Amino acid sequence: MYNKSQIQDFQKITIDFLKNPHKIEIETLKTVLKFHEYQYYVASEPTISDFEYDQLYQQLIALESANESLITADSPSQRVGNSLNNSFETVAHLVPMLSLENSYNAEDLTDFDRKAKEGAQLEILEYCVEPKFDGASISLLYENDLLVRACTRGDGIAGEDITNNIKQIRSIPLSIPLLAQGIQQMEIRGEVIMTKKSFADFNAQLKEKQIAPLANPRNAAAGSLRMKDPKEVGDRNLDAFIYHISYFLAAPGKSVTKLLATHSGSLELLWNLGFRSPQKEKKLITGIDKVIAFCSTFEAERDNLPYEIDGLVIKINDFALQEKLGMTSHHPRWAIAYKFKARQATTILENVEFQVGRTGAVTPVAKLKVVAIGGVMVSSISMHNQEYIKEKDLRLGDTVIIERAGDVIPQIVQSIASLRKGTEKIISFPTHCPVCNTLLEKEEAEAVWRCNSPLCTAQIIEKIIHFVSKDAMDIKSFGEANIRKFYELGILKTIPDLYTLELEKINGLEGFGKKSIDNLKAAIEVSKAQPLYRFIYALGIRFVGETTAKTIASQVHHILDLQNYSEEQLQAFEDVGVKVAKSIFNFFQDAKNIQLIQSLEALGLNMIQTNTKAVDGNLTGLNFLFTGTLLQLKRSDAESMVEAAGGHILSGVSSKLNYLVVGDDAGSKLEKAKKIATIKIITEADFIELVKN
Ligand code: IVH
Repeated sequence: MYNKSQIQDFQKITIDFLKNPHKIEIETLKTVLKFHEYQYYVASEPTISDFEYDQLYQQLIALESANESLITADSPSQRVGNSLNNSFETVAHLVPMLSLENSYNAEDLTDFDRKAKEGAQLEILEYCVEPKFDGASISLLYENDLLVRACTRGDGIAGEDITNNIKQIRSIPLSIPLLAQGIQQMEIRGEVIMTKKSFADFNAQLKEKQIAPLANPRNAAAGSLRMKDPKEVGDRNLDAFIYHISYFLAAPGKSVTKLLATHSGSLELLWNLGFRSPQKEKKLITGIDKVIAFCSTFEAERDNLPYEIDGLVIKINDFALQEKLGMTSHHPRWAIAYKFKARQATTILENVEFQVGRTGAVTPVAKLKVVAIGGVMVSSISMHNQEYIKEKDLRLGDTVIIERAGDVIPQIVQSIASLRKGTEKIISFPTHCPVCNTLLEKEEAEAVWRCNSPLCTAQIIEKIIHFVSKDAMDIKSFGEANIRKFYELGILKTIPDLYTLELEKINGLEGFGKKSIDNLKAAIEVSKAQPLYRFIYALGIRFVGETTAKTIASQVHHILDLQNYSEEQLQAFEDVGVKVAKSIFNFFQDAKNIQLIQSLEALGLNMIQTNTKAVDGNLTGLNFLFTGTLLQLKRSDAESMVEAAGGHILSGVSSKLNYLVVGDDAGSKLEKAKKIATIKIITEADFIELVKN
């Protein structure tokens, strides 16, 4: 949207501002901020760091709070909702939001093309082909340059007013230069989406709060639009593609009849007005055969996109022809959706198993009639917790829709109540541990039922599996199946047994010859010298992941020093909050755990922080966090570079963070970091420079 010289002008104003923040005029400041929002959210080509953006933004807030009459409806500050101000009134669209006819194969497309050619009385047609975004449909209304209303599709005639929530999406401009084009009013349509990355981040947050994850980015986007609190919508990092102009009205004395002749022209206009239209993604293709070929190559590329699409939309490009063909009451005759192979399937929920994990959490697992989705056979899906079963009203014998979005773990989307025969059974959650029969307990703030028995064999086995796992003690060739087998044989009952195993007893067991026993012996021996942080992680202390384990290890000489730390002292560690500190404290006050550590020490395991000398490098004392996909470095290598230069890696955004290194498609961490002025937000290239210097 901005040309080279405009970009340079804005950049110059920005640099002048950074040198002398008080000189800038409020109107200039707003235009500059809008420019940077556009570069970041629509064009994906930011020209300043987030830190610098934040300085501009803070100056705007300062000027506006000094003189409230200067606040305009399209000021970047006005995106931020400040209360629970959503009522979702029903409003009519200016033009009904029709749906699309679906096609699934080459025949359907050839048939569509034949009818369209007949209607148009032409031999061959030009199509504009673009992604069919898998999100939530919206319509936006702009009047006198301002966004005045945004609504959901609803029944196509009327939807719900979600203006406050839509204003949180930064790729949707609050104002656009319409009057300059001779347009007074314009209604447009698009799709709100959540990128795969934001979706994964969002589900990770839910998991942390022990809330069951959402099935797919579409549900996540649609659900977000109806949140009561616009601020929460802002935190979800939504995006929007705008692909259709449904209506426009000329400004007084202006004519707009010749403004647009083609669909591709309207995508260009939308792009030039500042929207993220599929201007770069679209393809103009003449003749249906080439369209069909394009559809099949594009389908193969589907997983490489940063967002989900469920097909392509094929639109006749010429508006005069579109008008000639018209529409049915359901869909236009000039467009068709080509739907990709479904990643959804229906199957029967045949049984539920309750599995007990390492921490005693009891997880219901749906056992399904085997079904293929997107080439993968699915027979078992986690149902997370009791709440999940209740919310989705899942019953034994139900027909359920399941989905696998991209590389996301399959989820149950919903049960189909209308197919019930009356024989389906309510799923009752066990009151006692399915393995050791101890009464299950649930903390008030949690969604998870737990078996708290230290003697529960399921937990003991899972703890051993975790102890030997790759990121923990990494005892190679000690797979999950072997541990279960050895446990059943009675030769491996506790973690210390790993180091006293009578390997001769294993000799001759299926899959265990002399060579594999030698390998196992060597791996067990090597593991004794693992660095302290791995041992701390291997202990499986609740809420202590690898990063926290590293932090703890760096603070002590011997692991048992941790017995002397109070909860408050533990909280002073970087990145350790109240919940984590409490868990570490409880662990080291429990005599059984101390005994376990002592017996492992007696067996020769390393308990000492061997790397206590703080590395003195150019990043000493600085805390880093990486987010998004790095293009040049592997994430683990980048983290090692920080540590080698004396820096620390934090596991989340907090005021202790000094640098957030942002890769491609960064999600909620970036949004969170932007709100903390002291965090410097830098690119991968900046990071590499920083380490070098
Ligand atoms: S055109 C009259 N283009 O798919 C214009 N729709 O299954 C009709 N959708 O309701 C819409 N990507 O919500 C159009 N590039 C795209 C689209 C798209 C996604 C959605 C839209 C529509 C639904 C129909």
